Amino acid sequence: MKIAHKITPQTNLGELIDLIEETHHTFTRSELTRISGLMEDPELASLSQLDALRQCFHALKADLESHLRKEEEILFPYIASLDSGLANLPASCFGSVANPIRMMRIEHITMISLLETLRELTSQYTPLADSVPPTFLLYASLAGIDADLVEHMYWEDHVLFPRALQVESRITREKDAG
Ligand SMILES: [Fe+2]
Ligand SMILES: [Fe+2]
Repeated sequence: MKIAHKITPQTNLGELIDLIEETHHTFTRSELTRISGLMEDPELASLSQLDALRQCFHALKADLESHLRKEEEILFPYIASLDSGLANLPASCFGSVANPIRMMRIEHITMISLLETLRELTSQYTPLADSVPPTFLLYASLAGIDADLVEHMYWEDHVLFPRALQVESRITREKDAG
């Protein structure tokens, strides 16, 4: 767990978002670019399932690029603003934060199913002993982005989103109490 040692119950929403973005979003973007390049190695032509592997990886890449953008540009700035409480809460275009969170969770499930397909196509990222050398680097890189995504989604689904929902409902109760 790359960021576990930096998170405490006192870590506020903005700090949690910074950790997720600096660690997981940055890693994901650079690995998507690097792995796209690895996939084009002509030596991989003999790899069985190469077309299916490329197709699945590019579907995951497209989903992730749009997902990260939505989090960074819309959802996360709103969640970070919850730290400052009622007085500074900006108007949102989506009603309760529960709505975009529900969308992000659905997108996580779609991406997990693409990861499951990648795992199946690569026998859990295990190259055959006689595979051409670039296969080893490609599979190790895919295993790396898979493990990072699992951690990344854990912090969002089980820590950031529940805390954001909790803080928003506290602020809403305060507002209703006048
Ligand atoms: Fe994210
Ligand atoms: Fe996410």
